[in-house]
Amino acid sequence: MQKALSPNTKFVWHCINFYLILILTGCAAGQLGKNNSGEFKNGMVVSANGIASKVGISILKKGGNAVDAAVAVQFALAVVYPNAGNIGGGGFMVYRAASGETNSLDFREKAPSAATRDMYLDSLGNPIVDKSLHGQIASGVPGSVAGMEAAHKKYGKLSWSALLQPAIDLAKNGFPITKRQASQLNANHPRFMHFNPDGTALIKLTGPWQENDLLVQTQLANTLTFIQQKGKSGFYEGAVADSIVAEMKAGNGIITHEDLKNYRAIWRKPVTGTFKGYDVITMPPPSSGGIALMQLLESVEPYPFKKWGHNADSTFQVMVEAERRAYADRATHLGDADFYNVPQTELLKPTYNKARMASFSFDSASTSASIKAGEIDIPEHLETTHFSIVDRAGNAVAITTTLNASFGSLIVVKGAGFLLNDEMDDFSVKAGAPNMFGLIGGKANEIAANKRMLSSMTPTILAKDGKLFMVVGTPGGSTIITSVFQTILNVIDFDMTMQQAVDAKRFHHQWLPDEVDVEKTALDSVKVKKLEEKGYKIIKSGNIGRVDAILRTPRGKYLGGADSRGDDKVAGY
Ligand code: GLY
Repeated sequence: MQKALSPNTKFVWHCINFYLILILTGCAAGQLGKNNSGEFKNGMVVSANGIASKVGISILKKGGNAVDAAVAVQFALAVVYPNAGNIGGGGFMVYRAASGETNSLDFREKAPSAATRDMYLDSLGNPIVDKSLHGQIASGVPGSVAGMEAAHKKYGKLSWSALLQPAIDLAKNGFPITKRQASQLNANHPRFMHFNPDGTALIKLTGPWQENDLLVQTQLANTLTFIQQKGKSGFYEGAVADSIVAEMKAGNGIITHEDLKNYRAIWRKPVTGTFKGYDVITMPPPSSGGIALMQLLESVEPYPFKKWGHNADSTFQVMVEAERRAYADRATHLGDADFYNVPQTELLKPTYNKARMASFSFDSASTSASIKAGEIDIPEHLETTHFSIVDRAGNAVAITTTLNASFGSLIVVKGAGFLLNDEMDDFSVKAGAPNMFGLIGGKANEIAANKRMLSSMTPTILAKDGKLFMVVGTPGGSTIITSVFQTILNVIDFDMTMQQAVDAKRFHHQWLPDEVDVEKTALDSVKVKKLEEKGYKIIKSGNIGRVDAILRTPRGKYLGGADSRGDDKVAGY
């Protein structure tokens, strides 16, 4: 359990840690763009945490490529951003080499082999509140460690050991938490106590967490050392696997040794398409994000957004109507394509998506009750994190990774010191019953043994004329797809810089519930009134998404956009 340090010890530790971080990241003061908007030519990392971004840059400076940096950042985020950075969760990677080669890696969690369709329902067939969200039973078999090993084996240049070392040092020596992190850890204190009665490093016993307190995670450092020494077997087999299975038995979990040993990350052909002359490379199922993003881009392409303006009422209407239709398709047609026949080709046809918009009129809002999933002739799920990386050669990596809810299932594996996901909630636990993001689903995304739950994560890369253009992605559950969509439009249609595009206010519609979530100040009161008169139900929302993105300028420099909604930071050199 984390013990609070005395103020003097804390100060000394803070200094030692500060210099350790500088040494281990090889970082010179001023490396971060002061306002996240510096231009760099050799490489860039944008992530949810400044320490993790610096770790990535240190790897690039040592001669590592974008994939090496991504592996090091993924493990560093598991230490410095425990809300979502993880080894107990999963994610997706989209890759584009400077040569134009593209690939995508699915390291999504999967249902344990003992999982059954109705496992979260009571005897009357109703979902049991929060059963798919909290405790050991909520976890899918983690995929992140297998994913990082697969990525490194295929594309990495530096040694595996070198990529793990920064995360191990940060876990062992501690790092100073931000004000936001202190407040989140304090807010979750009662829940951590409830789910981890024997304690975890995330619990401070001597009073509330404060900004700059050191978070030391000794057990996590040991787990990362096993992974450093043995690769994925250091996690899926041996002492760490024993700890995971013991944690399952201590509660109501069902992940077995066989489930862990059998987990594989899968290379998949990315979803590709074009939008206004830009090549879009994004994630296929079990993500819904790539298909839905392409559907949205194809649906809005004919409309003159540039002339109408950013968040103009006409722009807003067209985007919301496209979102209504794409999310209706998502609920019916999308799931793990290894288990369900996803009509990907049909859904990606520009003619299909343009035809879907034919029922929309500017005079009034469509209703979600009147919009169903498209009829397709088929032969026969708030907390995640995203990082974007480019290296000197122009290789690019977009990774979105998650535990699902903030701090996942809230279960820290006893003895191994890492949080387990609650990704099972991303399945449709019952046809038509909303998950934590209000998303509904049916047969395509019902639970089955070893199946991967549908995701909204949308790591995406854009290229133009054979050259890298943008690397983009975000957390935000169901709002991931629409946040990526808006960020792309902000640059291509509304001529924003990367930072402006990321910071611009956003809105989100997901078919059901039939309402539009709108960030404060995204629309003025006149527009809101006009849209309400047309039948749009406008709901004022808190932050939507937390986009971290990189833009390559025509002069070959990199411009970062680190979302000001969080502690996100651009690092470059
Ligand atoms: N857990 C959020 C998602 O994968 O969409």
